[in-house]
Amino acid sequence: MPDRDDTIPGPRPVDPGRAPQGGSEPWRAGAEASPDQVIKGQPGRWGPLTPADHLPTITDPFSLVTEEFRLLRVKLDSSEGRDGRALRVLAFTSAVPGEGKTCTALNVAAAAAQEVGHRVILVECDLRRPRLKLLLQKPPAKGLSDLLQGKTRLEEVLLDLDRPEGLFLLPAGTVPPNPVELLGSRAMSDLVKRLRRSFHMVLMDTPPSLHFADAARLGPVVDSYVLVVRSGVAPREGVATVQRALAPFGIAGVVLNDTAGSAGKGYGDYYRYYAAYGRELDKGNRS
Ligand SMILES: Nc1ncnc2c1ncn2[C@@H]1O[C@H](COP(=O)(O)OP(=O)(O)O)[C@@H](O)[C@H]1O
Ligand SMILES: [Mg+2]
Repeated sequence: MPDRDDTIPGPRPVDPGRAPQGGSEPWRAGAEASPDQVIKGQPGRWGPLTPADHLPTITDPFSLVTEEFRLLRVKLDSSEGRDGRALRVLAFTSAVPGEGKTCTALNVAAAAAQEVGHRVILVECDLRRPRLKLLLQKPPAKGLSDLLQGKTRLEEVLLDLDRPEGLFLLPAGTVPPNPVELLGSRAMSDLVKRLRRSFHMVLMDTPPSLHFADAARLGPVVDSYVLVVRSGVAPREGVATVQRALAPFGIAGVVLNDTAGSAGKGYGDYYRYYAAYGRELDKGNRS
């Protein structure tokens, strides 16, 4: 972990670039998804998601933190990517590990899937340290990396969750020796094209971007990035470096994660959610 003095302390840590403005416009992203091209997943085959503390959007629908994820989803929905494109394919990244990329991507995916009739897929593009399998009762042996190498079919590794309805997962699969090459491959861009046709929103969870090129390699296929910045963890210079690397592809927003209680209040440019996923905060509010 970096020297604490060099980490992002709290509000106003970085220039968010084109921070999305508030407001809830109607959902536009779904316009291109066509029901006759819907890809079918494997419902229930691997058992339900075991959310533990990772999925307040499902386990704790009325908590403050769930509202933050819904707000984030709405802001992304009403924002634009580069060249004015709607944000339908988004990669979540951060400078270093442990900033909350996976949790944020998963909860935003769950919040988006709660829109009635919407199909949302979370693609685990962190092929280095797959984590989604830890949330599944019976994780599939194969996933994205195997798919990109032609060793399985999408229908075999796509997980159709029934809670919330409309949320699908594509786990990382076997850890490959060449993740950057796989993510930058023709097979990957073909897959994203296919997912665009079948899902309203495609969210990608990626490795940290300060030392790994994986997330940046996805630039050509995404509509924009979401940068997760965890206070007390994110190295200031590192965040700036990552911002510069991703800027050409667009950064739709910066999620300031794990701000200390009300410290983030009043900084409307930032998405923020609170320590312990709202659990402690909720208790505090009730007492
Ligand atoms: N705001 C937060 N408050 C408390 N714990 C958090 C918060 N954000 C993330 N965590 C925890 O930190 C750990 C790392 O989060 P994760 O989403 O896996 O990060 P990343 O994908 O960026 O490595 C997980 O155990 C997660 O539950
Ligand atoms: Mg992660």
